[in-house]
Amino acid sequence: MEWRKLYWLGPGVEEDLVWSRDISPVLGNLPKNVMDIWHFCITEMFNNAIDHSAGNTVYLKVAKTAANTQIMMMDDGVGIFRKIQSAMSLIDDRHAVLELAKGKLTTDPKGHTGQGIFFTSRLLDSFDILSRGVYFTHTFGSEEDWNLERPESTDGTTVFMKLNNHSARTDKQIFDQYSSGDDYGFTKTVVPVKLAQYGDDKLISRSQAKRLLARVDRFKTVLFDFKGVETIGQAFADEIFRVFAQGHPDIEILPTNATPEVQQMINAARVQWANDLGGV
Ligand SMILES: Nc1ncnc2c1ncn2[C@@H]1O[C@H](COP(=O)(O)OP(=O)(O)OP(=O)(O)O)[C@@H](O)[C@H]1O
Ligand SMILES: [Mg+2]
Repeated sequence: MEWRKLYWLGPGVEEDLVWSRDISPVLGNLPKNVMDIWHFCITEMFNNAIDHSAGNTVYLKVAKTAANTQIMMMDDGVGIFRKIQSAMSLIDDRHAVLELAKGKLTTDPKGHTGQGIFFTSRLLDSFDILSRGVYFTHTFGSEEDWNLERPESTDGTTVFMKLNNHSARTDKQIFDQYSSGDDYGFTKTVVPVKLAQYGDDKLISRSQAKRLLARVDRFKTVLFDFKGVETIGQAFADEIFRVFAQGHPDIEILPTNATPEVQQMINAARVQWANDLGGV
């Protein structure tokens, strides 16, 4: 089954109506936990198009099979990475992808908190954003084929979402995963270290580390995910695991998916920290 509709953005177009009048009936009889997830993701992404894109239209396409549902949402606005890049004065639009991955990123702090994309990307099996040739990707498990045709490139922002119709995931599970302690807020994040690495450049400098550390002081627990990173340099490790950690005793800084080589560098930074303390 395939369904599509073009929306003109303007008065009267509201994300909750898009969900209740159009998408919810199109999806039909899916389990409640799956419907709850789609409800969150569709309304968050449509709200983004309304509030942030400055575009005129949103094109929505739904493809449902017995196994899964895929939804594509394409706006003709300014483009998400360009918007973030200019709002945060970043030198590279790939840097916008890294900031987006950390969460709590918003260019409109008065009306928003920067949770929409972080949680949408984690609730689904697969979530991609394409804008002006730059990709943001989040995939649960292994990558599968898409049967929705993808545009080569787009000036605005296109979001691709996919979820198994029989997924056991619940939104509560995912929200709980990123809150820590008895505070039910969004207090925990995972920083994909690889996103600070452009091309074959090794992660060795303090500047690269600082790029990863930007804004992480908004969280209580920060997991640095080294997936896809073979090795790191001494200064890079020292900046995160000694200098920053020492300066922010209230923030828990933890590595995950570290290779033995990466772990060795982290350990060295921690030993140095212990020595600093011992020397006082
Ligand atoms: N369709 C879009 N077009 C242009 N920029 C976008 C679009 N969607 C998101 N953005 C940019 O990405 C940022 C992060 O989006 P996200 O949904 O994660 O947070 P938010 O909308 O700011 O806050 P919340 O979702 O918690 O209300 C936005 O602040 C905005 O700058
Ligand atoms: Mg949003």
